[in-house]
This record gives sequence, C-alpha cells and structure tokens, in this order.
Amino acid sequence: MTARPRILVTRKITDPAEARLEALFDARFNPKDRTYSGDELVALAEGRDGLLVAAGDPLNAKVIGALPDSVRIIATLSVGHEHIDLDAARARGIPVTTTPGGLDNATAEMAMMLILCAARRANEGFRLVREDRWTGWTPTMMLGTEVTGKRLGIVGMGRIGQALARMARGFSMEIHYHNRSRLAPEAESGATYHRDPDSLLEVSDFLSLNCPLTPQTTGFLNVERIAKLPDRAVVVNTARGGVVEDTALIAALRSGKLAAAGLDVFTGEPKIDPAYRALDNVFVMPHLGSATREARDAMGFKCAENLLAFFEGREPPDRVA
Ligand code: DGY
Repeated sequence: MTARPRILVTRKITDPAEARLEALFDARFNPKDRTYSGDELVALAEGRDGLLVAAGDPLNAKVIGALPDSVRIIATLSVGHEHIDLDAARARGIPVTTTPGGLDNATAEMAMMLILCAARRANEGFRLVREDRWTGWTPTMMLGTEVTGKRLGIVGMGRIGQALARMARGFSMEIHYHNRSRLAPEAESGATYHRDPDSLLEVSDFLSLNCPLTPQTTGFLNVERIAKLPDRAVVVNTARGGVVEDTALIAALRSGKLAAAGLDVFTGEPKIDPAYRALDNVFVMPHLGSATREARDAMGFKCAENLLAFFEGREPPDRVA
C-alpha cells in the first residue's frame, strides 16, 4: 500500500472500531450519525476508495449505479445485506463484505431473552408495574409457561442458530432445527434435524427464526405454517421482519392460536405494524439483536479486516459478492 486508502464510514460506530479504521485508513466519519439519503451517499463517496455502510443505508441499484468510479469496495457493518443490491454491485465489479461471527452471541442472547420474556408475559408485567396498575399478588396472576423441557424449533441453523441452541440447552430445552443442509454431528450436538420445515413447525412449542432474508424465506411464517404450530406456541424473530407475514402473525396472536411472540425485527421498521403495539402478548425490541459493545466492536473490526485485505490485494475474508 502506498497512500492510505480513503474510506467513507456512513454511520457513527464504536470508538474502538473508529480508532482501528483511523489507524489503517484515511477515514471520513459521521460523528453526528446523520442518516444519508442515496444522493448524499453518492456525493460523499466522491474520491473515496471504499465505503463502510450499515443496515438501513439505501444501497439500491440506482445508488450503486451512480457511485463514483473511485469506490472499489463496500463493507457493511452487518450480517444481513438486504439493504445492498448485490447484483448491482457485481455489475459494477464492486465486492461487498459482511461481518459474520462477532454478533452471534449477542443475537442469540436476544433470541433467548425474547423467548423468556414472551413465555413469562414480560410485556404485561412490565406495563402493570410501570403504569401503577398492580394491585397485589394472587396465585393465578399472569401465569406464563416454562421453557424447561419444551421443544425449541430453530429455522436457520447458522452460527446464530447454533449459539442459541447452546444457550437453550442450558434451559433444558429440546432442540429441533431446519436448515438447508444438515449439520455435522458435532455441530448438531443431539439436535433433531427436520429437512421439511413443516415437520419442524409441528413439534415447535417455541419457534425461533434465525435465517437470512432471501426470496425463499420471505413470508416464510404465513397462515398455513402458523396453523402447523402446536396450539399456544411462542414465536420469536431476531432475523428479519420480512420472514414473517405480519397479518398472519397478528391474527394468530389475537385468536390465541399463538400464546405470545417476541420480536426484534419488523417489516418496514422503524414504522412497524401498529397492531403489534396494541397486543399484550407481544414483547417488542427495536432491532437490538447485535447491539452490545462486544458485538459492535467485533463488527467494526471485521469491516476493517475486510477493507484492509482488499486494499492489500488479498481476498476479503467475508465477501458475499
Ligand atoms: C445484522 O448484522 O444483520 C444486524 O441485524 C444489524 O443489521
């Protein structure tokens, strides 16, 4: 490397990650964390060799098509990459990298938290206390369901799914999963593989969505699939909102077919379907799955590692396009 590569970092990221980038590159940061429009992004990319972007940045075909020729790589601070039109990037010959690994535990912990909070009616309990409506203890007040001994169905047994399985075993849950391919026995650790997702649904007292959003998984949890779940099942989603059909999930939560849901991701977020806010049996979080110091540092370091590899003429380790 001769001159330090010039990069644009579109969002405020953690101080240790910014320090790492600053040491390696001529980095332009966004200290006020403004959300850039597509046009702003294109303008700010002028003269930059690489972009470090994040979920929510509008890297659609139009924006990628308009990026200045100086931009030779896009590193996203996320595992999901649905905000980037990969075909458009390929057409421009711009490699795209993601950040697998560093957020596995954080996201799995969020899924476990959603499982517990949904099972134990945390939303209702929290509101009762906060709104000063709690009138006293009774033996039958707000009874939830235990996770101990229950079957947890995991859709998408990648790194996050496997981390969740490890945690859920600590709660004595029985692990079942569906994945495109079956894991090796060591990784499976006794979990039961279901080649057919519908057979997984039939046994899932708790169902956790941990798959990427792809054309195949979009709308995965629809009316027909919800009908296959045991009555009073609990659904949690830390993947992407688009994996669920909102109207189907909301109807099942209203009818009592499902006991509860724990949701960290939503279609159209932050503008979520308002029905979720009105449902007592839904525990919601604002897409905080990977929002830990540890995970966000690791994600920033991963971006730095991928950018450095590229600028040094090596294959970036986490390239997806
Ligand atoms: C991810 O890495 O995909 C997280 O959901 C943040 O976007």
